[in-house]
Amino acid sequence: MESRNYALEYDKSYTRYDLIVNLFQLGMDTKHRSKALRFAGLKEGDTVLDLCCGSGLSFKATQEIIGKKGKIIAVDANGYMLQLAKNRARKNGWDNISFIECPIEDLKLDIKIDFAFFALCWYDKDLSRKWIDKVSEFMDKETGRFCFFDYKMPDNWLRPFIKPILWLEIKWLGEAYTVNDLDWKPKELIGNMLRDARFTAYYFDCMFAVAGKPLL
Ligand SMILES: C[S@@+](CC[C@H](N)C(=O)[O-])C[C@H]1O[C@@H](n2cnc3c(N)ncnc32)[C@H](O)[C@@H]1O
Repeated sequence: MESRNYALEYDKSYTRYDLIVNLFQLGMDTKHRSKALRFAGLKEGDTVLDLCCGSGLSFKATQEIIGKKGKIIAVDANGYMLQLAKNRARKNGWDNISFIECPIEDLKLDIKIDFAFFALCWYDKDLSRKWIDKVSEFMDKETGRFCFFDYKMPDNWLRPFIKPILWLEIKWLGEAYTVNDLDWKPKELIGNMLRDARFTAYYFDCMFAVAGKPLL
């Protein structure tokens, strides 16, 4: 069976993507990414692979930690989203970012990376496992780090209120997943795909980060 091309979904929503993502996080998107990156141990000077980089919403938070000595390799299969990311880099004078337009499945790199960041791009377990295996090829098994940052349904009193908001966000973005898919157990699901995995949840339990090393 032909696998689904998730990157195509953003051909229709790329112009409103940044606004919607920031609306849901009440303008704190960069702060939330920063928290995930620091939690996962991103360091000054690191070379970061920003997988499914989209419009480049992770760049600011990443740059603030890696500094001028660090590098970002930004990968996305959607040309419209990648163009937004290139524009963002140009406007901010970030010349330490290189861009690759291709599906992660076909990615080829001739350098080692220190850190792989998957932000808001969990689609399904089998696909993510393939992506982790692929990216592990470019990492040192001991020092390499993965970080996943994404949404979850809160396990608290907010749950009934958040559900319609998340439903609306998913509809606006034309995402491939449903609101029920966010009722998941990322700690266990992603944690089992990494070594020495650690989990944190924040923003009223609506966002999380999972960090870990590649499996040996
Ligand atoms: C929800 S957006 C997330 C963008 C960005 N990481 C962020 O946090 O805002 C998902 C992105 O994944 C990209 N994508 C989906 N499948 C992909 C694949 N197989 N290879 C590379 N990029 C892919 C899409 O084009 C889209 O830009």
